[in-house]
Amino acid sequence: MRQINAAGASFNIEDRGAGPTVVLIHGFPLDHTMWQYQLPALAMNNRLIAPDMRGFGRSTVTEGTVRMEQMADDLAAILEAMGIDQPVCLCGLSMGGYVAFAFLRKYPARVRSLILCDTRSAPDSKEAADARRQMADKVVVEGTEKVAEAMLPKLLDPRTPQDRPQVASAVQRMISEADPRGVAATQRGMAIRSDAADLLPKIKVRTLLLVGEHDAISPPDEMSKIAAAIPNSKFVIVPDAGHMSPMENPQRFNAELLAFLESELLMR
Ligand code: MLT
Repeated sequence: MRQINAAGASFNIEDRGAGPTVVLIHGFPLDHTMWQYQLPALAMNNRLIAPDMRGFGRSTVTEGTVRMEQMADDLAAILEAMGIDQPVCLCGLSMGGYVAFAFLRKYPARVRSLILCDTRSAPDSKEAADARRQMADKVVVEGTEKVAEAMLPKLLDPRTPQDRPQVASAVQRMISEADPRGVAATQRGMAIRSDAADLLPKIKVRTLLLVGEHDAISPPDEMSKIAAAIPNSKFVIVPDAGHMSPMENPQRFNAELLAFLESELLMR
């Protein structure tokens, strides 16, 4: 682990392995440890950079509203501070996907390939955005325990709590330990995120899309449409997994990721 100062904040970052850089962007309201099952396997041939994003884990918390564009700027500043100037493979889950879209818009030359996991390209409806703002106001008063209770069933395949209790408790721990001010600021930022529909056909880099078979937040149907709109893309449904596919079925998830990254090496 290392702490990097960038963009006026301090970021806690897992920096492991050697080879082409892969940046792993966690989902909401989680932290970099959601990639725990990917780190050992992927670090054999790649340099993995997995930050706690602004407001999460052990990184600086910013109050108010943190937009996806701010998180994209944070990533660019982190890469610069680490001296990484070669284009990276950007891999984001859910909120991480929203950040990846914002990064692609602002820094297209810094992306060599893209991995979108369990994410959406559409913005929030008015109702969804209002619900986020209400949740943001509530979480700073009530804390994150209640958020964990409400979110856990939506994040996981219904069988995960029984079949893989360690995954359910890890997700619950991440949410419960999240700073309510960071959770609130990110909710407000996600509520005003841009529609990525116009970006999808313009994505030039190779793209892998992965989604849990039972993802209730960004279902396979919705993700298959995102894949269809991206020219050079591959779409994979991860069986026996919900929204947290990298944690719920790491064997299949990692096999797809490794095959994608290895085929990239062969093309160099
Ligand atoms: C996530 O997993 O990052 C969240 O489901 C994103 C969201 O709330 O839209």
